[in-house]
Amino acid sequence: MLRFLTAGESHGPMLTAIIEGAPAGFALSIEQINHDLARRQKGYGRGGRMAIERDEVRVLSGVRFGYTTGGPVTLVVENRDFKNWQKRMSVDPADRAAAQPVTRPRPGHADLAGVLKYNLDDIRDVLERASARETTARVAVGSFARQLLSPFGIDVLGYVVSIGTTVAQACAAHELDKLRQTTEQSPVRVANREAEAAIIAEIDACKKSGDTLGGVVEVIATGLPVGLGSYAQWDRKLDARLAYALLSLQAAKGVEMGLGFQAAAMRGSALHDEIGYDQPQRRFLRLSNNSGGTEGGMSTGEPLRVRVAFKPLSTLMQPLRSVDIKTKEPTVGTIERSDVCAVPAAAVIAEAVVAYELANAFLEKFGGDSLAEITRNYEGYCQQLKEF
Ligand SMILES: Cc1cc2nc3c(=O)[nH]c(=O)nc-3n(C[C@H](O)[C@H](O)[C@H](O)COP(=O)(O)O)c2cc1C
Repeated sequence: MLRFLTAGESHGPMLTAIIEGAPAGFALSIEQINHDLARRQKGYGRGGRMAIERDEVRVLSGVRFGYTTGGPVTLVVENRDFKNWQKRMSVDPADRAAAQPVTRPRPGHADLAGVLKYNLDDIRDVLERASARETTARVAVGSFARQLLSPFGIDVLGYVVSIGTTVAQACAAHELDKLRQTTEQSPVRVANREAEAAIIAEIDACKKSGDTLGGVVEVIATGLPVGLGSYAQWDRKLDARLAYALLSLQAAKGVEMGLGFQAAAMRGSALHDEIGYDQPQRRFLRLSNNSGGTEGGMSTGEPLRVRVAFKPLSTLMQPLRSVDIKTKEPTVGTIERSDVCAVPAAAVIAEAVVAYELANAFLEKFGGDSLAEITRNYEGYCQQLKEF
């Protein structure tokens, strides 16, 4: 099984991720990780920060000559902006005078609960780590995870379903390549040109009024075998693990599998995915996929569809009412350099965390220490399904 931790602050020297449990013998493309990091940085509505950073990963352990060794994999991404923050983010007590403490908490951010919990007098200590800059490390880990899944024909893609009040169309899961082509070219990562123009106009209007926007992203995964995850224990359920990972993302406020909340208002007869059998392929299939590809905490073998709702960002250029943590006087939230809308980036980040959870569930099912061993286990299971 895989595990990973991330470390690093938004304006610190770098973001770090250490991945434990990666099997040996998998080809690792650093270009692919850099490509995914660049995808995370794109998107109409981002603030000035993304113009400064050009994220590039360095692999510090666990890979030799392009292949995983089985040792812990360390990935680091430098913050180019650190050079402008060296004194303010220094570990040296002598630099404390340069700190310019932040004392006006932003409603909706981690600021107030963070300083109260950790007994801090500078909100910067909180916001530096709470910031979604941390997801840079998670995108690198997710890109790595996708490379563990790709020898088995599993593909994962995140895209934007809606931003603010504008809903773009959802896409057919079997057209993942087509969906990738269209959404990669869209500045707001949607599959629908008309919606794109409306969304850009909404972001522009929002920026003008000093406000922010949220939205919904969908992640689709194809090529999954039936039976990843398990009904046998609460913390092994695939849908639950995906929801945990996705809700751990900054500003994520809701997760739904398949039809999700819509399913609650439907009749069972209209909702449940009827079962068929493909004789030539010798495989069970579903006549619809309203479940979003899981039943009983296990993958059904149909495409996985999971959606995440992101709230509007909390740093407002027209800030909301707040209270200064030092003087206790009424004030307004701090203005930090900020995004107006980060939903297109959130789609790439959601894709990364889904890829990681799927890779973890895959390794749990087909566990082994090398690509060769895992391939034998996987092929044996595929044969077993054919003979069922
Ligand atoms: C890709 C991405 C970028 C974000 N950028 C900002 C930002 O520029 N300004 C901001 O106030 N919040 C931003 N956030 C959201 C905050 O990090 C988040 O709201 C905060 O950490 C509090 O956590 P919570 O919203 O999950 O409760 C971003 C989130 C994501 C996913």
